[in-house]
Amino acid sequence: MIGFRRALVTGGAGFIGSRLVTALLARGHDVTVLDNLSAGRRAAVEPRARLIVGDVRDPLAVEDALSSIDCVYHLAAQVTIRGSFDRFYEDLDTNVMGTANLLRRLPSGAVKWFVLASSMGVYADAPAPRPIDESHPTTPISPYGIGKLAAEQVATQILGMRGVPLTIVRYFNTFGPGQAFTPYVGALTIFITRLLAGKPPVIFGDGEQQRDFVHVDDIVAGTMAGVGRATGVYNLGTGRGTSLNQLAHLAIARVEPSLAPTYEAARPGELRYSVAGITAAREALGFAPSRSLEADIDEVIAEIRQRGVTS
Ligand SMILES: NC(=O)c1ccc[n+]([C@@H]2O[C@H](COP(=O)([O-])OP(=O)(O)OC[C@H]3O[C@@H](n4cnc5c(N)ncnc54)[C@H](O)[C@@H]3O)[C@@H](O)[C@H]2O)c1
Repeated sequence: MIGFRRALVTGGAGFIGSRLVTALLARGHDVTVLDNLSAGRRAAVEPRARLIVGDVRDPLAVEDALSSIDCVYHLAAQVTIRGSFDRFYEDLDTNVMGTANLLRRLPSGAVKWFVLASSMGVYADAPAPRPIDESHPTTPISPYGIGKLAAEQVATQILGMRGVPLTIVRYFNTFGPGQAFTPYVGALTIFITRLLAGKPPVIFGDGEQQRDFVHVDDIVAGTMAGVGRATGVYNLGTGRGTSLNQLAHLAIARVEPSLAPTYEAARPGELRYSVAGITAAREALGFAPSRSLEADIDEVIAEIRQRGVTS
């Protein structure tokens, strides 16, 4: 990937961003990270990367981060569908205005490719547990989804005008080692963390809602695959749905078989069915997810245990 060797990863201290940084370094890229460490951890960033602790909404931090960069991976965001109802201002400010700030500071001519991390949260609910492709209606049902869609749209317009190629990757539910524990994001991390503490997983609703759980390493591969190769919008998932009941039982069987899930009222903003159609990503990006919950859950349990994450 000649010409795309000096990468900026915003949100590069986070769950997905830090894995992306490691993968880019392994391919010989120079990597700068811009992260305000609100959710990310300094220790997650490889020392070989240049870490700027700063906010994507801060003009000076962004200007500094963009110097000598030819490829941007924009992942920094407030990442919580449920939490975005209470914190809608902060969520939109970071996810929309943070993106706008980055776009307005792009040095003209220097940045040759822009990758925007978006989300299945941009979609309207699906009527059945069938994979949805990129033509599925984008009528988000949470402030988080609204912000991610606005970021997509403003990036498409502004970068289109400037002639900077843009790849938008819509991640589905990403799992894997290294995810910070919050009560809101990452059902598998939350379930395992609670089970390790002897607490039952809590399911909101009847547990028959489906998600597409995709491994962080597959997400990283799909995120890098578009650069120099394909502009456009791509779902990154597995194409396979798993209900939250199935997920809870998988985690219970591995960690604490004496426990059973408990149920609470469904929360606003939750899609009933969220399964990715990935034909476009397969064809244009060569995306071929190879990991699965069943095969990789033990790695996640071991990492959470070792990190001593508490609920
Ligand atoms: N995890 C998922 O299942 C999932 C699903 C869909 C989309 N995404 C998207 O993937 C991207 C990465 O998410 P993640 O799961 O790694 O979450 P994360 O919270 O671990 O990472 C986000 C990072 O952004 C940083 N950040 C937040 N606000 C910032 C700001 N104002 N300035 C600078 N840095 C800031 C955080 O400190 C954190 O390190 C996000 O854009 C998210 O919307 C994630």
